[in-house]
Amino acid sequence: MLEKFERYPLTFGPTHIEKLARLGGHLGGGVEIYAKREDCNSGLAFGGNKLRKMEYIIPDAIASGADTLVSIGGVQSNHTRMVAAVAAKIGMKCRLVQESWVPHEDAVYDRVGNIQLSRILGADVRLVDRGFDIGIRASWEAALEDVKAKGGKPYAIPAGASVHKYGGLGYVGFAEEVRAQEKDLGFAFDYIVVCTVTGSTHAGMLVGFAADGRERRVIGIDASATPRQTREQVLEIATRTAGLVELDKTLTLDDVVLIEDYAYPHYGVPSEETKEAIRLTARLEGMITDPVYEGKSMQGLIDLVKKGYFPKGAKILYAHLGGAPALSGYGYAFRNG
Ligand SMILES: Cc1ncc(COP(=O)(O)O)c(C=O)c1O
Repeated sequence: MLEKFERYPLTFGPTHIEKLARLGGHLGGGVEIYAKREDCNSGLAFGGNKLRKMEYIIPDAIASGADTLVSIGGVQSNHTRMVAAVAAKIGMKCRLVQESWVPHEDAVYDRVGNIQLSRILGADVRLVDRGFDIGIRASWEAALEDVKAKGGKPYAIPAGASVHKYGGLGYVGFAEEVRAQEKDLGFAFDYIVVCTVTGSTHAGMLVGFAADGRERRVIGIDASATPRQTREQVLEIATRTAGLVELDKTLTLDDVVLIEDYAYPHYGVPSEETKEAIRLTARLEGMITDPVYEGKSMQGLIDLVKKGYFPKGAKILYAHLGGAPALSGYGYAFRNG
């Protein structure tokens, strides 16, 4: 589906699929759980889902003649860390707006984890006192103008690389990669569980899996706590992406399966249940998930299995999208393990 699009390689290649046998067994053995390790997809600053997206965005950035990538996220944004790493790798400058999206407990929240890595990677990091919103932000537009005013040539990458015209393509590629891996495995996955916030990961998967009729088998676990906006943004990106790849199906809001029950109490703040899911996965599988995104989707997966949401014998693929560097900003939450 992606042959006609230019791709700038930033990842190692197809990501590993591993069976989480101890987690599945712990949950009663009624379903089989697998993880696709997008968190181990690259040598660039600990990797993660944004690299698949940026593989289809960077050719456009290079062609534009830009000299500075400009992006935005919360203080502990994984996305901005990935933009900083990509800018370093391709020899561009990087300007990052880090908004106050998360009420936090740790005094060093703005010194450690993702933001520390972005600074080490050489990005010009600016903190802005504005709350959470996945939409287009005035602070980001001001940063783009500021780069221009200083004689630079900015290239705009929105939050999560999502509402960019090519933001959904990378996860269309994920679906194609899963289909190829299923041939080797000798079975197909019944469900794909994914954490959803700015929307292009889920949107790309919708388009990619719609090609074999599995669009409603993509189960988004909302971590934004603003699910209405997220659901609409997923559909908007999926519709644009479907047009780009000439999908012969029209996607509707009903195709966006987004479960809203696990994002509480706030974007970026883990509940006790999220922390329990992070500990359980670490202690049964040695697999690290984070308090902002993957811990919430793991909590959702565990709870849905316990509730019998998935039929007996179902094979479930958990997309592990990265995010572990943020854990350093949550020392208080895990002070006792
Ligand atoms: C680790 C991790 N998981 C999940 C997501 C959600 O992906 P998206 O913003 O494409 O919905 C993000 C980024 O927002 C992320 O960094």
